[in-house]
Parts: sequence; C-alpha cells; structure tokens
Amino acid sequence: MSEQNKEEKFTVTPWEVKGKIDYDKLIQQFGTQEIDDALLRRISAIAGELHPLLRRKVFFSQRDLKWILDRYEANEKFVLYTGRGPSGHTHLGHLMPWIFTKWIQDKFGAPLYFQMTDDEKFMFKDTLSLPEAQKFSYENALDVIALGFDPKKTKVIIDTKHIGKLYPIAIQVAKRVTFSTAKAVFGFDNSTNIGSIFFTSMQAAPAILPSVEAGRNVPCLIPCAIDQDPHFRVARDVVPLLGYYKPALIHCKMLPSLAGGDKMSASIPQTTIFTTDAPKAAKKKVMGAFTGGATTVEEQRRNGANPDVCSVFSYYYYLFEYDDKKLGEIEQKCRSGSMLCGECKMMLAEKLEKFLAAHQERREAAKDRINDFIPE
Ligand code: TRP
Repeated sequence: MSEQNKEEKFTVTPWEVKGKIDYDKLIQQFGTQEIDDALLRRISAIAGELHPLLRRKVFFSQRDLKWILDRYEANEKFVLYTGRGPSGHTHLGHLMPWIFTKWIQDKFGAPLYFQMTDDEKFMFKDTLSLPEAQKFSYENALDVIALGFDPKKTKVIIDTKHIGKLYPIAIQVAKRVTFSTAKAVFGFDNSTNIGSIFFTSMQAAPAILPSVEAGRNVPCLIPCAIDQDPHFRVARDVVPLLGYYKPALIHCKMLPSLAGGDKMSASIPQTTIFTTDAPKAAKKKVMGAFTGGATTVEEQRRNGANPDVCSVFSYYYYLFEYDDKKLGEIEQKCRSGSMLCGECKMMLAEKLEKFLAAHQERREAAKDRINDFIPE
C-alpha cells in the first residue's frame, strides 16, 4: 500500500479502531455535528469555564447538545450516562472521558449512570470468561470511584447483576431493531453469535432507565469516545418509538497509544498505561515512547522536532498539561530544538508517576466505598 493510501484508510467501530483516524471525515461518515464556538460559549457561560478537553477539541463532536442545553436552561435537568466494557484493567484512554464526565457532573449537578457491560465483553471476546469480565467490572468501578464522582449522584450498573432492571427495557428496544439493521450498523454476519446481535439493546437500556425510574421523560447526555456512536445511532432511532427522548451525545477522540497513532489499546501492554501499573513500570513505558524527534541530536538541535506526530506531546495535550501556557512552552521548546525528547519524556514520566501513585491510593480507598456506588 502506498503511504498515501495508508494515511487515508481507517476503521472506527465499537469493536475495532484501526489506522490514522480522520476525525472530520468521521463526523461526516457518522452524521454527527461538530461542537462549534456557539456551543462552547454556552457551556462556558453555564459552567463558568471550559474544560481543556473542550477547549482543545478533544471532545469535538455531538448530537443534540444544543437541545440538552436548552432543556437545562428550561430547568429540565439531564442525567449523564457512560460506561465501560470490562475486558481488563482500566487504561488512561478510558479514564479521559470519565474525567470529563466528572466535570460535567460537578458543573451541571447531573446524576450519572455508569454501565459495566460484562455481558458484551464475554460475548465478543473469545478468550474472556464470564467470571473474568465480572471481576473486571468491580476492578474498573474502583477507577471510576477513585476519580471522585459523587456517591449520592452516581450509580454503577453491572449488566449481569442488574439485569432485572435492564432487561424489560432492553427487550422493548430489541423488538424494534431488525437483524438487517444490526448487520448494516455493526458488520455482523451469519456466523456472529446471537448474544452479540442482541447486545446493542443492552447498551441502549441505561439511556432510558432514568426515565423509567422517574416515571417521566428525563433528558440524557452520553459522553463517550466516538467509536461508541453506532450503538447510540440505533438507540436514537428506537427510543422515540417507545415515547422517550433521544439521548444526546458528546464524543471525544481516542487517546493515542505510546507507539504513536491509533488508540491506546489494552492488547499492546508495552505502549498502554494501565491505572494499575506500578508507577516505575509506567515511567519506563513513557521513556520508550514514540516521539516526533529527529534521528540525531545535532539534527534535532538544528531543526527541532515535530509535536504533531509525537505520542508524548499528545499525553500532555490530552491529560497531563491542562495549563495552556505551559503546554505552549513545551511545544515551542520542542519545535525550536531547545528541548530534546529525553528531557521531555522524563518530565511526562514524572507527572505520570505522581498521578498513578495518587490514583492508586484513591483506588485502594474506593474498595471500602464500592457498595455506595453499586445498587443492590
Ligand atoms: N461498549 C462500551 C465499551 O466497550 C461500554 C459502554 C456501555 C459505554 N455503555 C456505554 C461507553 C455508554 C460509553 C457510553 O467500552
């Protein structure tokens, strides 16, 4: 394949993300809307500030966000819904949208329903047993809790545990989704197991659950990585037929892996930072990361390096340097060649080490509070 074609080809589905993603194209392909300046101004007016992930267009796409803000200003408060497929330990790519979700919870006073799709991961992954997926639901919930969500406003819903609440809703959805829709949206074929074909109706259910529990229509906002959008495209077609509001969405980009490009993926542990990594081991992963540096020190001192392709810079950008002025300094020093990659990696590694040590402490403490978040 020529370089050009390599650049152009990418795949984004809920189960596979491949290639160099063109996010503008994805907005067109998926039929979502960008988050424009008018929306940013409205969020900023309500929240009193803009989260860096909004300012930096990491959260870049939306469906019905204007409507959610309209409802909010008409005093009709929304609930948040997001989730995790518990196939392993949490990594930084998962944490990023959750950090943003916490910000929305704080600024808008929104309750959160957090779904653990242990059923999904069991059905879609050949090598994952059900007990393992169930175990990771709890492990991953510790990371959610460690981020500081309000226990009075946050429910962690585990599919196999809370199926009694979810199933009556899921079958309402399932009855209105045909096999041909599931095939077209998710690429299933006749060899797909029937649990996987049903699954999207389980991911739709929490979007309606708050309305069912309240006995009235409650607006729902779903922050998620853009790869999850196909599920909610289906859900948005169906839920109005059941008499509920379509859920609104706010989508983020995928956190790149330390190997550059693509997304951080649990299947390549050397280039993925897990929240459970020993801080020293995580530091080592950063020191081995792909950068935009030149091949020799002399060349880099002379011509500088390229932060646009650098995985280390993207970690500052997405997570570890939310101060715009400091980020600008890192960028300038990188481009000018006055800071070399070793120094820059070391600085990130130290930030990461501190973050992990603190997160792991909060994660330990979360073990005593897990029942405050997981309803009986
Ligand atoms: N399917 C998602 C995953 O594999 C988990 C999930 C369930 C989710 N419900 C969600 C993600 C709502 C975002 C929003 O990670």
